[in-house]
Amino acid sequence: MRIKFVHFIILLLSLVFFVSASDDEQQYEPADNICEKCNCTSTNETSENGESGTIFTIDCSLKDFQHIFAKWPESMGDNHNEIIYIMSFNNLNNLQQMPSTDAVLFFTCRHCKISNFANAAFIDSPNIHSLDLSYNKITSESLNPDIFRGPQSDDNEYASIKLTNLDLSHNSITFLDEKLFEHTPQLKNLDLSYNELKNIDEGTGVAISKLHELETLYLSHTGISDLPNSIFEKMNHLSELILSGNQFKIIPSSLSTLTHLKLLHLSENFIEEITHESFNGLKDLKTLNISKMSELREIKDGAFKELHSLEVLICSGNKKLNSLYLADILKIEHLKVFDISHNNLTTLNFGEIEEVDKSLNSSKIEREKFFKNLHTLKLEGNPWHCDCKIMKSLEFFNHNATYFKRALNSDEARCETPFDLLSKLLYDLQSQSIYDLSSNFYCSDQKPKPMKIPVYDPPQFLRPKSVMLTVFAVVAVVIVGIIIGFIIVCIKRRLKANEYSNNSNPIRYTAVRDSTVSNIANIPYQQP
Ligand SMILES: *[C@@H]1O[C@H](CO)[C@@H](O)[C@H](O)[C@H]1NC(C)=O
Ligand SMILES: *[C@@H]1O[C@H](CO)[C@@H](O)[C@H](O)[C@H]1NC(C)=O
Ligand SMILES: *[C@@H]1O[C@H](CO)[C@@H](O)[C@H](O)[C@H]1NC(C)=O
Ligand SMILES: *[C@@H]1O[C@H](CO)[C@@H](O)[C@H](O)[C@H]1NC(C)=O
Ligand SMILES: *[C@@H]1O[C@H](CO)[C@@H](O)[C@H](O)[C@H]1NC(C)=O
Ligand SMILES: *[C@@H]1O[C@H](CO)[C@@H](O)[C@H](O)[C@H]1NC(C)=O
Repeated sequence: MRIKFVHFIILLLSLVFFVSASDDEQQYEPADNICEKCNCTSTNETSENGESGTIFTIDCSLKDFQHIFAKWPESMGDNHNEIIYIMSFNNLNNLQQMPSTDAVLFFTCRHCKISNFANAAFIDSPNIHSLDLSYNKITSESLNPDIFRGPQSDDNEYASIKLTNLDLSHNSITFLDEKLFEHTPQLKNLDLSYNELKNIDEGTGVAISKLHELETLYLSHTGISDLPNSIFEKMNHLSELILSGNQFKIIPSSLSTLTHLKLLHLSENFIEEITHESFNGLKDLKTLNISKMSELREIKDGAFKELHSLEVLICSGNKKLNSLYLADILKIEHLKVFDISHNNLTTLNFGEIEEVDKSLNSSKIEREKFFKNLHTLKLEGNPWHCDCKIMKSLEFFNHNATYFKRALNSDEARCETPFDLLSKLLYDLQSQSIYDLSSNFYCSDQKPKPMKIPVYDPPQFLRPKSVMLTVFAVVAVVIVGIIIGFIIVCIKRRLKANEYSNNSNPIRYTAVRDSTVSNIANIPYQQP
């Protein structure tokens, strides 16, 4: 009896469980009055290729829904080209199959606590263009190729879907199935940042390397320290690569195949030095960010030599960077933004200035051509050592250009050494002020004058002029003294002569010797 009861309970429980589980799979949010629950808008727009169409937006953010809708709202009608469907900040947990549509679909579900997917979730919406599932709880285990599979075609193959943008950032993905993207060959933009990949294992590498159409790849803050050599080999369209906030110690050599890369973001890594090979092959690179690298000490000769297309160079906040070779920068014609602020630089090293001038003469380039397109220059936050070298290097910039004045004034690039020039604005540096300070240099001349060997400078009182004056004064004093003495002697003689002739007796006083000897002694002795 008791056992039967227990069986019954178990049966009941499993039934409840099964029903609720299958319920969860099947159940959708009721589709009636969607546009009363959510915010629906319809706009007529002309798309890039000139076709006009309707964009229907369903915004169901922050509604505490547990499921997506089973159907599209009736008010939407059939005549729509694009559907923007936003479900962010709901408690979906499980991403179910999308309702059927031929329209281009943009689906966003951030902060939805998604950790599971229905198989073939987009089989009825194969024109899905963008899928933003950032800030969810997606794991590697829950991501499998079947999620993205399209309808089955005649030869038992699954068709692919048109997914172009996939944002999986801020999830718990540690690796990717090597076939994950087999049904999404048109993927152009993939964001995997803020996942704990730690390293790109073979499967993950294969999965990514098969995305031949990829244009932007975000891998920031994923803890990776290397990129497999073959990963970019067949990506001929990759133009943006974001690798910031990782564990790279050297710049991965696999970058050299990315000849069409336009933007490379490498900041916040542990790279120690950048050499002449680091950016090899990146001929199209326009924007390079190599900031906040706590270990970066040196950027060597030739590092920028192949970056002919560079327009924006951000190299800022590298606290240990005190060697940066800049001669290559002069040859970058299109440079617009040049930011080397907040490093540990003491000088602007364009190499030997004479050498630069020589190479200019031989290649018939004029100095005026340097930094012709520059509009932002940032030099502040470095312990600049203000000497002749930096003065001459600053002459490579056009002092009349607004970038020069604005940058060096408002950004307050200031000298830190020598002490006499402490806090002086680089912009205010005049050759004269340096000349005055250290007579070793003669900046304003084209040819440096031979160095003046500093001599021992005696103190004021030891200089010849002072010594002469002193001797002269002493001699004068002696002569005056002799003359005065002579006059006194003369006067005395004459007085004596008078005394004998007058025979007078002048009153004489005797000094009182000791009053205690005798009182009588105190009585003034008077001559009779
Ligand atoms: C609905 O969406 C439109 C456009 O996105 C927005 O301007 C409006 O404020 C939204 N209304 C509500 C109630 O959220
Ligand atoms: C969009 O165009 C259709 C006709 O092409 C029109 O019926 C509809 O009112 C328009 N909608 C808006 C929001 O302009
Ligand atoms: C460059 O990288 C730093 C550090 O990640 C960031 O703060 C800065 O905004 C970036 N600058 C540009 C122009 O991307
Ligand atoms: C900056 O460079 C100076 C030498 O020029 C060095 O003594 C100092 O330790 C460096 N600062 C850092 C944070 O590395
Ligand atoms: C470069 O050429 C000019 C004349 O064209 C000459 O005056 C100057 O001294 C040369 N500079 C160097 C470094 O050879
Ligand atoms: C800068 O301006 C001054 C006077 O306005 C002019 O003499 C000088 O040639 C200019 N320099 C450049 C490099 O344009």
